Amino acid sequence: MKEKIDQYLQEIDCVETSSAEEIEQFRIRYLGRKGLLNDLFEEFKTVPNENKKFIGQELNRLKNAVQEKILMLQKSSLPIEQGEKKVEDLTLPAGQVPPGTLHPISIVRREILDIFSRIGFTVADGPEIEDDWHVFSGLNFPPDHPARDMQDTFFIEKDPDLVLRTHTSSVQVRVMESQRPPLRIVMPGRVYRNEAVSARAHCQFHQIEGLYIDDGVSFADMKQTLLYFAQEFFGKTRIRLRPSYFPFTEPSAEMDVFWGLNSEADHRITKGTGWLEIMGCGMVDPNVLSASNINPDKYSGFAFGMGIERIAMLRYQIDDLRMYFENDVRFLKQFNRFI
Ligand code: DAH
Repeated sequence: MKEKIDQYLQEIDCVETSSAEEIEQFRIRYLGRKGLLNDLFEEFKTVPNENKKFIGQELNRLKNAVQEKILMLQKSSLPIEQGEKKVEDLTLPAGQVPPGTLHPISIVRREILDIFSRIGFTVADGPEIEDDWHVFSGLNFPPDHPARDMQDTFFIEKDPDLVLRTHTSSVQVRVMESQRPPLRIVMPGRVYRNEAVSARAHCQFHQIEGLYIDDGVSFADMKQTLLYFAQEFFGKTRIRLRPSYFPFTEPSAEMDVFWGLNSEADHRITKGTGWLEIMGCGMVDPNVLSASNINPDKYSGFAFGMGIERIAMLRYQIDDLRMYFENDVRFLKQFNRFI
C-alpha cells in the first residue's frame, strides 16, 4: 500500500490543468465516491494492526496533498479567467505606470552643460576605453608619472596599451586632433580609477571637462568664464584660484568658490574656511598643443575639469558617494525631475 500511496503522491505533483473542468476531473479521480482515496480506505481495513498507524498517517498525507493541489490549481487558473473578462471592455483606461525621474548625476550634468552652452561651448564625447596616448602621453604626462601606475589605472591590455580612462581630459586630445581652433568644447563622461570604494571615493565616477582654444586666450578669460559658471550654478559671486600642478596645464590652478559660513553645515563642508574646491584648471601647456599639431606660437587656451558627483553632493547635500550607484529607489525618488 505504501508504494501505491507514493506513486499517487508523485502523480499529484506533476498534474497540470488548463480549465475548471479538468480540475473537477482531477478531484473526482481522487476524492469522488468511487475515487482512488475511497478505494485505499477500503483496502486499509485489511492492513494488519501493527501497520495501521503508519499507513493511516500516509493516507492522510495523500488526502491533504490532493486537497492542497486542488486549491493551488484553482488559484492559478483564476487570473486567466478574470483577465479574459477584463479584455472585453477595451474602452477602460490603461493602468497608471509611475514615471521614472532623472538620476541626480544626469540632472547636474545637463545643468552644467546648459550653462556652458549659453556662452558658446558645444558638447563632445570620446571612448571610455582609451589608449595611452589620449589619456597620458598626448597630455604631457612623463613616462614615469604616478598616475600611470597600476594602483590608479585599470589596464585592459598591456601591448598595445589600453586602459579605462582615468579622466575626461582624454577627450581634449581627441577634439584637438580632429578639429582646428577656435575650440569651445565641454566634454562629459564616465571615468574609472583603481580606488577602494568608500563614502568619499569610488572606482567609477563622472567628470566634465572644458577646453577653450583660440588666438590670444588669456588667464583672465579663464577666470571670468569660471566665475560665470560659479554664479550660474551655485549662485556664488566669489572664486579664488590656488596654484596647483597638472602635467597638461601651465600654469595650473585649483578653483574654490566662497561658500560662506552661515550655517553649521557650511562650517562642516568647508572645514571652517568658507571655501570649497570645485575644479582643476589651467592654461593648456604648449607641449599639449604641439602634440596635437596646434601651433602654440599662434594659439593659446585654457582647460578645466570637475567631478559631477562632488558637485551634485554639494547641491543636494549627499554625503555618501555610493548612493549614486546603488539604485535604491528611496534615494532616487527624491530627485523629481523628469526632463
Ligand atoms: N584631469 C584632472 C583630474 O582628473 C582634472 C583637470 C584639471 C582637468 C585641470 C583639466 C585641467 O582640464 O585643466 O583630476
